[in-house]
Amino acid sequence: MYVCVCNAVTDREIRQCADLGATTLGELSDVLGVATCCGRCAEAADRVLQEHVAASNLLEAA
Ligand code: FES
Repeated sequence: MYVCVCNAVTDREIRQCADLGATTLGELSDVLGVATCCGRCAEAADRVLQEHVAASNLLEAA
């Protein structure tokens, strides 16, 4: 699903970016352009990112 409509960025792309090392919204913005236009997606994009980072950390700890 699209998280950032302005830049056509999906939740899948955000997770892929996290898998490549992104851990902050700023890094997502630099790589994918998330939240660089209207900014309305910032909270949702950060939530997708942080949930994925947390889930990945849990898997690594297991
Ligand atoms: S929806 Fe992401 S910048 Fe507008």
